[in-house]
Amino acid sequence: MLEQEPSRTAWMAATHRAAHQVLERGLIFSDPLALRILGQDAESVAKDALAHPERRGMRVFIAARAHLAESALAAGVEQRDVRQLVVLGAGLDTFAYRNPLADRLRVFEVDHPATQAWKRRRLDEAGIAVPDDVVHAPVDFEREALLDGLAAAGLDPTRRTFFMWLGVVPYLTTEAVRATLAAIGSLPGGAEVAFDYADPPAALSDEARAAHHARAERVAALGEPWLSYFEPPALRETLTGLGFAEIEDLGPKGLAERYWPGAGRAAPERGGHVVLARTA
Ligand SMILES: C[S@@+](CC[C@H](N)C(=O)[O-])C[C@H]1O[C@@H](n2cnc3c(N)ncnc32)[C@H](O)[C@@H]1O
Repeated sequence: MLEQEPSRTAWMAATHRAAHQVLERGLIFSDPLALRILGQDAESVAKDALAHPERRGMRVFIAARAHLAESALAAGVEQRDVRQLVVLGAGLDTFAYRNPLADRLRVFEVDHPATQAWKRRRLDEAGIAVPDDVVHAPVDFEREALLDGLAAAGLDPTRRTFFMWLGVVPYLTTEAVRATLAAIGSLPGGAEVAFDYADPPAALSDEARAAHHARAERVAALGEPWLSYFEPPALRETLTGLGFAEIEDLGPKGLAERYWPGAGRAAPERGGHVVLARTA
C-alpha cells in the first residue's frame, strides 16, 4: 500500500458494510456504527451501491466474514477464556466501539500508521467515543515484527488472544502472511484467528476470473494490489505446521450454505474463503 496515504480499500470495505445495513438491513451482519464512521447518510450510500450491482457479491462476502469472525470471537470469550482481541489491519472496523464483550475483552487495533491516524480522525469527527482500554498500535506488517509492536502496546502473550484479520491477507506478500500466522500460532497463551483469502485466479471459471481481474485492476490502481492467493489444502498444511489444531475453511459453497441453506449447490467451488483457526 502507499506509504503515507490511508488505505483506500479500508474505505471501500467500510462502504460495503454500511451499504449492507441499508440495502439488506444488516441481515447477515448488523453494525450500528457502520454509517456513522463513514460520515455518510444512508441515502447516498445506497445510491452508490445500487449504481454498481456487480459489487453485491463482495458486499455480502464482507458482511459474512465479519459475522463469522465476531461469532467465533464471542464463542472464544464464552468457551475458551479469550481475553484479548487484536483487530489486525483494522481499517474502519467498528467492533472496538460497540464491543458487547467489553467487560471481558481488551481490544488492540493494529494498522498501518497512516490508516490508523486517519481512522482516529474519522472516529473523532463522527463523535464515536474510544473506550479507555482500547489500544491503537501502528504497525506495518511488511516491515515490523508484529509481536514486538503488540508487546509495546501492552498485549499479554500469556493470555488467550483472538486475531480478527479481515480483508488484509490478499494485500500482503505470502512471506508476510506466513510470518503473521507464525507469530499468532506461537503465542504461549494460545490464539485464535479469523481471516479471509482468495483461491488463485487460475482456479476460477472464465467468468469469475474476468470479474476478479476487473476488481484486481481497480485495487491496484488505488496503490493496493492483491499480492497473495492460496490453494486451500496447502494453506491448511501451513496452518497445521504453525500449531493451529482446529481449522475451519469456508469457501463459496460453505459460505452460501451457512447463510442461505440450500444455496450451496448453486455456488461456485472456488473464490473467496473465510478461515477460523485456533491453537490448542
Ligand atoms: C481492505 S482493508 C480492510 C480493513 C478492515 N479489516 C475491514 O475489513 O474493513 C485492508 C487493511 O489492511 C491494512 N494493511 C495493508 N497492508 C498493511 C501493512 N503492510 N501493514 C499494516 N496494515 C496493512 C490497511 O491499512 C487496511 O486497513
